[in-house]
Amino acid sequence: MIKPDAVQDGNSGAIIQMIEAAGFRIVAMKKTQLTAERAGQFYAVHQERPFYNDLCQYMSSGAIVPMILEKENAVADFRTLIGATNPANAADGTIRKLFAKSIEANAIHGSDSDENALIEGSFFFSHTEQF
Ligand code: CMP
Repeated sequence: MIKPDAVQDGNSGAIIQMIEAAGFRIVAMKKTQLTAERAGQFYAVHQERPFYNDLCQYMSSGAIVPMILEKENAVADFRTLIGATNPANAADGTIRKLFAKSIEANAIHGSDSDENALIEGSFFFSHTEQF
């Protein structure tokens, strides 16, 4: 999911280009905006964290571009491509190093397991939107 800061800054195209160049196939993609409530559902696993309310506000502050991506070893390879959560710790050449503004407004989200990728994919897309 490309986050509001990156969409607002006009970086969606460059990020999608990096994703495809890294060998990911785009199975589904759209531009949409979350309400704070829906952002809260998406990030429910973080609801006890001190940054949760700010995160829900930020994630509903503008358009996002969710995607379902396919590749061998996709979860691990995508996490390598996007870099560390905090852009200050992200490796050179990663999406977050190039485009993230802060640990919160960090340009992009990637699922942390195959199981969560299925859950998060179906949060945004029906089966008829996946090709
Ligand atoms: P993401 O990979 O989408 O998963 C949870 C998100 O919470 C994370 O990226 C950041 O946007 C945000 N986040 C994680 N840690 C912090 C933090 N310490 N302070 C503020 N936001 C955070």
